[in-house]
Amino acid sequence: MSQEDRQRWNDKHQQASASREASSFLRSLADQLPSTGRALDLAGGAGHDACWLAQRGLDVTLVDLSDVALAQAEGLARDAGVSLTRLRLDLETDAPPPGPFDLVVCLNYLWRPLLAAVPPLLAPGGLFVFAQPTRRNLQRHPHPSARFLLEEGELPTLLQGLQSLSLTEDWTDAGRHEARVVAQKLQQVP
Ligand SMILES: C[S@@+](CC[C@H](N)C(=O)[O-])C[C@H]1O[C@@H](n2cnc3c(N)ncnc32)[C@H](O)[C@@H]1O
Repeated sequence: MSQEDRQRWNDKHQQASASREASSFLRSLADQLPSTGRALDLAGGAGHDACWLAQRGLDVTLVDLSDVALAQAEGLARDAGVSLTRLRLDLETDAPPPGPFDLVVCLNYLWRPLLAAVPPLLAPGGLFVFAQPTRRNLQRHPHPSARFLLEEGELPTLLQGLQSLSLTEDWTDAGRHEARVVAQKLQQVP
């Protein structure tokens, strides 16, 4: 990822509204998600989801490329009275922080090789939560552009070493066409 891309993300975060709720998809999973242990939010942006997870009791690490997003996440965590570990990493080139994590979240960020790196980060039985718009989203929205979209039916092919607990591909209440998965690390056969 170039310096120009980092700047572009910094500008986007600068312009975005600071007051945003955690992802409705994530919140809909409240009963399934752990409330103790370690969580990792990949490309977690300004920290809305990470703070929500931390408020539930998880020890959360947020990774993002953007310094602006990381600074916003720090402010959000302070306001929420929680602490986050924040790491500036380029997930296209840098290794994610070492696990094991009880939960790994990646919402609205697509770098296909990263999905293969998720199972080794998870503790046995750990959960992976992922959501990304598909190409069909272009029928209603010009953004994200095609290079950031999943092909329809592609997501299951990217989930090696994980067992899908729920996998959907549909229009969401917010009018986006998204592929969403909750998957669990496969238990190792002794
Ligand atoms: C569409 S936003 C999603 C943020 C958050 N996950 C959410 O759902 O609100 C994409 C995020 O990916 C981050 N990002 C883009 N390229 C990245 C990279 N190569 N490494 C790490 N983070 C990256 C951006 O800074 C931005 O915060």
